[in-house]
Amino acid sequence: MARLKAGVLISGSGTNLQALLDAAGVPNYPAEIVLVVSNSGDAPGLERARTAGVPTRVIDHRDFSDRAAFDGALGSALRDAGCELVCLAGFMRLLTAGFVESWRDRLINIHPSLLPSFKGLDAQAQALAAGVRIAGCTVHFVRPEMDSGPIIVQGAAPVLEGDDAASLAARILQVEHRIYPLALRLIGEGRVSVDGDVVTIAGGRPAATGTLIWPAENALA
Ligand code: GAR
Repeated sequence: MARLKAGVLISGSGTNLQALLDAAGVPNYPAEIVLVVSNSGDAPGLERARTAGVPTRVIDHRDFSDRAAFDGALGSALRDAGCELVCLAGFMRLLTAGFVESWRDRLINIHPSLLPSFKGLDAQAQALAAGVRIAGCTVHFVRPEMDSGPIIVQGAAPVLEGDDAASLAARILQVEHRIYPLALRLIGEGRVSVDGDVVTIAGGRPAATGTLIWPAENALA
């Protein structure tokens, strides 16, 4: 079966991109990464793509007079590469509503919180400030409002005593690297459908999952 052609947009280190590249390198994975675009020529993630043999483009937002022109260039690059799905992976530019709507249900994002909590910047610090015991990350379809849209996969991570934003972010990032390839796989397998604000995943087995309770019931004896 033809593999789903995905483009990935990055701005920085690209560890989530790496997780997607690694997954796509496994035989029978139902998606392939056909283009990586960065808005910064300095993004270390570009080297990850080159190492994997994936074409890269740098489209610097500073070269454009406004957001619409920048997004237009992004769209052209993605279409030229034949992308059927776009994955935002630490892409730190807000996209115009026109761009988002033109990729409706074909544009996904990963965010380091259990949405709809803690949208925006510094989500992990927001979680610490709110005193939550369980933090996590979300892969979702993108809607024009920032960090909103139908949720595809979420993963949880405990907040530990003594955590700061960096230590919590590192723990959540490990989970991000598991749920982003999972979300892309589910979409590539054609199992994900969107009905209004809610995603349905065909063929899920509820019994296969576990429960995260934190602090654990046996940890306080
Ligand atoms: C990740 O933690 C991702 O969830 C976050 O940026 C980091 C990128 O890391 N994205 C956002 O905060 C978007 N709102 P990476 O470049 O190593 O994948």
